Amino acid sequence: MDTETTLQFEVEANASPVPASEREARIADPGFGRVFTDHMAMVRWSRDKGWHAAKIAPRKAIEMDPASSVLHYAQEIFEGMKAYRLADGSTALFRPEQNARRFQKSAERMAMPQLPEKLFLESIEKLTEIDRDWIPTAEGGALYLRPFMFASEVFLGVRPAHEYLYLVIASSVGAYFQGGAKAISIWVSDDYTRAAPGGTGAAKCGGNYAASLVAQSQAIEKGCDQVVFLDAAEHRWVEELGGMNLFFVMDDGSMVTPPLKGTILPGITRDSILTLARDEGIAVREEPYAIDQWRADAESGRLRETFACGTAAVVTPVGTVRSSKGDFTIGAGGTGQLTQRLRDRLVGIQRGEHDDTHGWVKRLF
Ligand code: PLP
Ligand code: COI
Repeated sequence: MDTETTLQFEVEANASPVPASEREARIADPGFGRVFTDHMAMVRWSRDKGWHAAKIAPRKAIEMDPASSVLHYAQEIFEGMKAYRLADGSTALFRPEQNARRFQKSAERMAMPQLPEKLFLESIEKLTEIDRDWIPTAEGGALYLRPFMFASEVFLGVRPAHEYLYLVIASSVGAYFQGGAKAISIWVSDDYTRAAPGGTGAAKCGGNYAASLVAQSQAIEKGCDQVVFLDAAEHRWVEELGGMNLFFVMDDGSMVTPPLKGTILPGITRDSILTLARDEGIAVREEPYAIDQWRADAESGRLRETFACGTAAVVTPVGTVRSSKGDFTIGAGGTGQLTQRLRDRLVGIQRGEHDDTHGWVKRLF
């Protein structure tokens, strides 16, 4: 559907960008998701015209009719990816075509039009180029790109909308967690599940995150950084965190990660870690792992490490797991050796410091 396009982006530079000194101050220690750049990308879709009105324009508020259907039925999807400054001063994206494809799959699941991969990639590349000065120079910094699309038709009937708006905004970011890459604690949600078989768990739609927030606030109340969800049917199998996939490292050096059965997000970091681990000859099983097994393995020492991974969180060790049945600690509660090694390898490739043997790094300029 809609895979070919000749649509070109019109570029309107921001006539009053944030002054350089102010920009430098904002990106010095940006945290996550609070500092935004001068521009945004935008493409419209309608049933009559298909994809049209592609623009890079000054970032500004969007006006919405109160009957815009996204505000009622939540037809919305998004992506998350980063532009990195490499060791040699150039700028690159990491596997951006994977985000383009996942965006198409999310669109399909939510009965939305599929943005051609070429338009997705051009929107990202052009926005990164025009806002290149917003990429933080501090270690670990990146330009977080947030493509998203929502139903903009003014209509209250319940059916797939006939009009959509696709936008990309960019945010200068540092580490997702305040503690940087230190081990996090996670709370096992008893009361809530994130996704059910046949549901939208594998799509990156805003509704999944809305549904996860009450469980995430419980995690925070329990003093944890993140919530971990169990499967909806048996409430037994570990699925993923609110915004990250999970890996378990065993004492025989093998690894386990929950399989992609439609209820968890197929993370691009997850896929990259699987590849890097297999490159090293590590046996990785994509198979269900039960919460009771996790506890038993942590207590017996069979489980050495657990880590979470995702674009925002990179590779983050899990030190403590809390649940209504009590807490358990993984290894010594800090960063395990393999977690550290895989993190270093991944970040090394993303930053152009290690060989990119899989052709993952797309240099822009
Ligand atoms: N799982 C969820 C629910 C997420 O929101 C994310 C982040 O995008 C991930 C996993 C990791 O995906 P990726 O590695 O593609 O960023
Ligand atoms: C990402 O890693 O890009 C996400 O979308 C996760 C979110 C928690 C920021």
